[in-house]
Amino acid sequence: MTTDNLERIQALSESIRQHDYHYHVLDAPVIGDSQYDILLSELKTLEVAYPEYLFEDSPTQRVGRKPDTGFAEVIHRLPMLSLDNVFGVEEFNQFINRVSDRIGVSPQELTSEPKLDGLALSIRYEKGVLVEAATRGDGKAGENVTSNVRTIRSIPLRLQGGDCPDVLEVRGEVVLKKLDFERLNSRLAEAGEKNFVNPRNAAAGSLRQLDPSIVASRPLSFYAYGVGKVSNNLGRSHSEVMGKIQDFGIPINPGLVVGDRKRIEQAYVELLAERDSLPYEIDGMVIKVNRLDLQEKLGFVARAPRFATAWKFPAQEASTCLLDVDWQVGRTGAITPVARLEPVFVGGVTVSNATLHNFDEVQRLDARPGDRVMIRRAGDVIPQVVRVMTEFRTKALPLVLMPRACPVCESVLKRAKGEAVLRCTGGLVCNAQRLEHLKHFVSRKAMDIDGVGEKLLEVLVAKEIVRTPADLFRLERDQLIGLERMAEKSAENVIGAIDRAKQTTLYRFLYALGIREVGEATAHSLAKHFGSLGGLMEADEAMLLAVDDVGPIVSSHILSFFASEKNCRVIDEFRVLGVDWSQTDSGFPDARIELSGETWVLTGALESLTRDEVSERLRSLGAKVAGSVSAKTTVLVAGPGAGSKLIKAQALGIKIIDEAQMLKVLNL
Ligand code: IVH
Repeated sequence: MTTDNLERIQALSESIRQHDYHYHVLDAPVIGDSQYDILLSELKTLEVAYPEYLFEDSPTQRVGRKPDTGFAEVIHRLPMLSLDNVFGVEEFNQFINRVSDRIGVSPQELTSEPKLDGLALSIRYEKGVLVEAATRGDGKAGENVTSNVRTIRSIPLRLQGGDCPDVLEVRGEVVLKKLDFERLNSRLAEAGEKNFVNPRNAAAGSLRQLDPSIVASRPLSFYAYGVGKVSNNLGRSHSEVMGKIQDFGIPINPGLVVGDRKRIEQAYVELLAERDSLPYEIDGMVIKVNRLDLQEKLGFVARAPRFATAWKFPAQEASTCLLDVDWQVGRTGAITPVARLEPVFVGGVTVSNATLHNFDEVQRLDARPGDRVMIRRAGDVIPQVVRVMTEFRTKALPLVLMPRACPVCESVLKRAKGEAVLRCTGGLVCNAQRLEHLKHFVSRKAMDIDGVGEKLLEVLVAKEIVRTPADLFRLERDQLIGLERMAEKSAENVIGAIDRAKQTTLYRFLYALGIREVGEATAHSLAKHFGSLGGLMEADEAMLLAVDDVGPIVSSHILSFFASEKNCRVIDEFRVLGVDWSQTDSGFPDARIELSGETWVLTGALESLTRDEVSERLRSLGAKVAGSVSAKTTVLVAGPGAGSKLIKAQALGIKIIDEAQMLKVLNL
């Protein structure tokens, strides 16, 4: 009878272990959560009834240990090293040359992996069972964080497969994924607790929690990148060893590339492009000589190996001085605080302004002119102030006060219920809104009035020649001549461009109206759905909600826009002035080509059209236009100078066409 119970306990444990592996390592669960819970609860019940069969590596034993009173020291049997850095292709080549000089030949096989930005961990398995986990500490000795590490669900408590070595120390990085970091911070904020400044600090803070049940509530992830002490030979190269580690059921650093120096250089470009879309933070790429005999020959300098280096990415965060906080008025009257900064190089560019979002954010950060602030610029995102380093405040600094009136027109400011944003009530009397509105109206994706740029609009608004977008169509050549840098010929060009823009499409016109929350995509959907402006103007809420991507907020903005007599009057003026939005060319799907469901990516140079023009055409045909190549990509259009996207598409076997082929497909 008892052997039956032991067998059941073992079978349940093994099955739960497999499900943990599928769920946490492979990201491909086989059973649902409730089925999993049933297995786990049966196992728990049996273990309570037969405590003699409760084993250390049982899947029930991840959480539930008593809080630690402190972390004991663990002496690393092999030191945990750090890495030297290189910051560009030249330094990368120097690294390769140094390696070549030492071993007498050029290393044909190198590897690259993302350099995860978390904290290093060493996990020891004895006879396949997890017995100890330690932080890096000073490299020689770290802290024993075994109880906490046991709560990380992707780390097996027992290795898979039968041929695991007697002793296996796996080394890797503990990280908190970006999404998990955000969730954790909002949970902390709700509980009135302090936020973590970045995912790395959150991961470190979590792993060093004394109470494992708190650690268990923080979804930490682990990815192996190497080994420490191992009793058996696991292979002849780094990539072979990593393959073995993966076979044992341990998640390894995804994105391992094996290749020569050219391939690795390319891998760097690819990884940099992928950086922002990865689920975790990375701060560079780690390059290693693949063959272990060569690694051994190369050895170490001080605390870093000679066979590896980190090729760092440009930092996405940097600190600088907050000089002042200005208030800007947007097209919709939203008043946003802008941080004026001492210029600082971050994310590959020099930044001197950053957004502070809204007044609540200024207060939350407690940002004051004179403060040292941390700026973040990731990818093409607008630079942001992420943190005020109050520890650097040496004297009392002035508070930033909420503006009382619009900084441009001095109208009263209002804050709608439930909104964080302050808005100017000046509407069309506010030059800032007028100007922003006009800028939007003439922009490429809206009415596309070439030749009417920001500078000219500023002058026209300041001189009160143009007050509403309709006034643009009343402009005469003579009004323009004599304005700053406006000769006869340029004046004629401007008038010509305005005239040409009169023939437009419904979706462009709708987008140009600047209705709140009606962006390009929504304007498309509205035009497609209603087919005419009259149809849209007559629509009630139910009819609007029937349109793809129109929800209650957008529909309320549309309804109040057309409910305004002023707006309807301006629309009439457009009509009278000869603006014609009945054209259907690029605004509507061509009956003969239908690309819905397809995802296109453009890369390299285009000669006959701009990217925006092609994207617009693609969208109007129902295709999605994406910024990066993935398995979901249908077609890649590659022009001269195409780089990593082309390579990735080739690797994924995606259809690749050039500009001439594209023009044919799109009937352009
Ligand atoms: S190899 C022998 N590979 O970067 C050197 N390290 O700056 C062992 N790191 O302490 C490191 N991702 O915590 C290696 N793919 C990767 C890595 C990686 C992140 C961390 C690691 C190390 C630090 C050095």
